[in-house]
Amino acid sequence: MNRTLNWYNLFSKVYDLSTFGDRPYRQARQRAIQTLDLQEGDVVVDLFCGTGVNFPYIFPEIGPDGLLIGVDGSAGMLDKARRRAAQLGPDASRIRLLARDLRDIQPGFLEDVLPDGKTPKVLITLALGVFEAYETIFANLYDAMPNGTRFALMEVFAEKGARGAWLLDFVGQADVSRRVWEPLKARLSAYQEEWLPAHFWRFIKSSLVVASGVKER
Ligand SMILES: C[S@@+](CC[C@H](N)C(=O)[O-])C[C@H]1O[C@@H](n2cnc3c(N)ncnc32)[C@H](O)[C@@H]1O
Repeated sequence: MNRTLNWYNLFSKVYDLSTFGDRPYRQARQRAIQTLDLQEGDVVVDLFCGTGVNFPYIFPEIGPDGLLIGVDGSAGMLDKARRRAAQLGPDASRIRLLARDLRDIQPGFLEDVLPDGKTPKVLITLALGVFEAYETIFANLYDAMPNGTRFALMEVFAEKGARGAWLLDFVGQADVSRRVWEPLKARLSAYQEEWLPAHFWRFIKSSLVVASGVKER
């Protein structure tokens, strides 16, 4: 178990409280999910799903034939995600949770859970900034997905040394100055990028990026 995952195991106990019911991120999160253009029957892979904050936005959109796969490396976060999934009603068996260290995935790591012939839609929120090797990690995730996969990313960004950014870095065990949208921009077709002000954290000089596009080669 690495240090970051140990941290997230502890942090899982207060994660949802610490983000004030997701108020700082809700708008950007919803925008990222909107860019996935969800349809009934879709298969959505929520990578680094944490406590499942994205689930209530995704689940109603994919209907009774849809499937939501949440992947995370922290048992504590997955435990909270499991509880959140259960609260979404009796259909919550359409949410599958997988424990995986996503720094080190093999192509086909979702083979056992992806329904045959389905092209997934992949969501990554507030996660790539955790990793110094974010470019390689995204490249491996990209390679592991079939052509036609739509990706959406939502992250917080602050310039190095920006006022208050240290707090985000500390709490998330991240470096929010990492330009994590760039590996998506380099690879995805129909790439789109939007910036939203981070209104909630007035004492932190930061903004929120939503990036999306499609794997086409
Ligand atoms: C800041 S949280 C974001 C959670 C969620 N996506 C959200 O938007 O609230 C980062 C997540 O990355 C997960 N994580 C960190 N290192 C990981 C690794 N090596 N493999 C898989 N998940 C990891 C943590 O457990 C945590 O749930």
